[in-house]
Amino acid sequence: MVLPSTLYHVVATLFLALTLSETSNAQLNATFYANSCPNVSTIVRNVIQQSLQSDSRIGASLIRLHFHDCFVNGCDASILLDNSGSIQSEKDAAPNNNSTRGFNVVDNIKTSVENACPGVVSCADILALAAESSVSLAGGPSWNVLLGRRDSLTANQGGANTSIPSPVEGLANITAKFSAVGLNTNDLVALSGAHTFGRAQCRTFINRLYNFSNTGSPDPTLNSSYLITLQQTCPQNGSGTTLSNLDPTTADGFDNNYFTNLQNNQGLLQSDQELFSTSGSATISIVNSFSSNQTAFFQSFVQSIINMGNISPLTGSNGEIRLDCKKVNGS
Ligand code: HEM
Ligand SMILES: *[C@@H]1O[C@H](CO)[C@@H](O)[C@H](O)[C@H]1NC(C)=O
Ligand SMILES: *[C@@H]1O[C@H](CO)[C@@H](O)[C@H](O)[C@H]1NC(C)=O
Ligand SMILES: *[C@@H]1O[C@H](CO)[C@@H](O)[C@H](O)[C@H]1NC(C)=O
Ligand SMILES: *[C@@H]1O[C@H](CO)[C@@H](O)[C@H](O)[C@H]1NC(C)=O
Ligand SMILES: *[C@@H]1O[C@H](CO)[C@@H](O)[C@H](O)[C@H]1NC(C)=O
Ligand SMILES: *[C@@H]1O[C@H](CO)[C@@H](O)[C@H](O)[C@H]1NC(C)=O
Ligand SMILES: *[C@@H]1O[C@H](CO)[C@@H](O)[C@H](O)[C@H]1NC(C)=O
Ligand SMILES: *[C@@H]1O[C@H](CO)[C@@H](O)[C@H](O)[C@H]1NC(C)=O
Ligand SMILES: *[C@@H]1O[C@H](CO)[C@@H](O)[C@H](O)[C@H]1NC(C)=O
Ligand SMILES: *[C@@H]1O[C@H](CO)[C@@H](O)[C@H](O)[C@H]1NC(C)=O
Repeated sequence: MVLPSTLYHVVATLFLALTLSETSNAQLNATFYANSCPNVSTIVRNVIQQSLQSDSRIGASLIRLHFHDCFVNGCDASILLDNSGSIQSEKDAAPNNNSTRGFNVVDNIKTSVENACPGVVSCADILALAAESSVSLAGGPSWNVLLGRRDSLTANQGGANTSIPSPVEGLANITAKFSAVGLNTNDLVALSGAHTFGRAQCRTFINRLYNFSNTGSPDPTLNSSYLITLQQTCPQNGSGTTLSNLDPTTADGFDNNYFTNLQNNQGLLQSDQELFSTSGSATISIVNSFSSNQTAFFQSFVQSIINMGNISPLTGSNGEIRLDCKKVNGS
């Protein structure tokens, strides 16, 4: 019989579509906690504001956690899990170890949020909210954070080693890593603008200061007066962990000076300067546009960080709401 079979397919297809839209396809939205935790944004912001009193760098460190979370298995707080019997922590991955920081502040935020709304707000959403508060408290744009992510039951240390861009791997490879998570060249340039605040260790850029690519000379795209400053901060046999501001002009402010710096050959990391100094690259005109118009940068940054925050979230009944961001519930 033809009719029942057709009917069966129609019903099955409809069912599948509905199931998908309720689970894997579920959209984040800005009002997810409107009833269950209406004050969550304020709580997150207040803890960060408090932490900034004693650590002017903490906002930068927190937004970087959101980035390193989202690039590995999506924005699922996988980066926050500590080592355990079944977890190989992403904190020990090459891009994170001796580098990512702010985990204690995430725990303080979680404690405050749990006190107000127990068992409701995911750690992945806390990272997204912390990114927004950090940017707006530093003088950057504000935006409505999309929410409704849930927390992973696993970590992916190998994925963190391979998916997070390195400052020395070249623009083509970095572009490919962004593309692998659905982010384009505009997103790459706009999000790199987060290097308008925070610090980097000498070991992440010393390859540019003395013997760049075995040429025996510094990176030719490095401004000569900035080079002298950086060589003083990072002597040849000095400590690789000494810090330098990512933005030499306004170290803790969120503004478009990062892009003006690139035009002046004052990008700190190789990956920063390449956005402007790679001849023929589509990134150059985007740098110029953000340098000449901070509003354009802020608008693009907001769109791009929302794009980044939408990378493969766990929604619906996938994952869980962790009670302690450092471990899977019941472990
Ligand atoms: C485009 C590829 C990127 C590369 C290669 C890169 C690389 C780095 C490196 C090497 C550091 C210094 C880490 C250290 O010395 O311990 C750093 C710091 C930082 N990155 Fe990136 N990054 C990239 C993109 C991003 C994105 C997309 C964001 C956020 C939207 C971001 C936000 C930050 C911030 C705020 C800091 C300073 C953190 C602090 O002071 O604790 N970065 N990045
Ligand atoms: C936000 O998403 C949740 C979960 O998908 C849903 O229950 C809620 O109705 C959504 N709110 C709006 C305003 O779309
Ligand atoms: C939200 O929390 C802040 C302090 O964190 C408090 O001042 C404010 O009254 C709270 N608002 C509501 C509606 O609970
Ligand atoms: C991570 O850093 C800690 C502290 O510096 C160190 O003890 C540990 O060996 C490092 N882990 C890896 C995998 O390098
Ligand atoms: C982190 O630092 C420790 C101590 O200096 C070192 O043994 C370890 O190899 C570093 N880990 C990474 C991944 O760089
Ligand atoms: C990730 O990189 C770290 C540091 O280089 C290394 O110790 C670890 O074994 C790597 N993990 C995986 C799963 O590849
Ligand atoms: C870029 O990626 C390719 C392919 O994964 C790799 O062979 C190459 O070493 C990478 N380049 C750098 C500078 O890391
Ligand atoms: C630069 O590095 C290469 C390879 O390590 C080495 O052969 C060369 O002597 C170095 N040049 C200088 C000036 O240190
Ligand atoms: C750095 O250390 C190397 C090897 O120990 C030595 O040959 C070189 O002279 C030192 N350079 C400086 C500037 O101290
Ligand atoms: C080097 O930086 C200074 C600003 O500190 C700028 O005036 C100068 O034009 C820059 N030089 C080059 C070649 O970009
Ligand atoms: C700056 O960018 C904004 C947003 O794209 C745009 O509306 C505005 O016209 C631009 N201003 C100038 C002077 O180009």
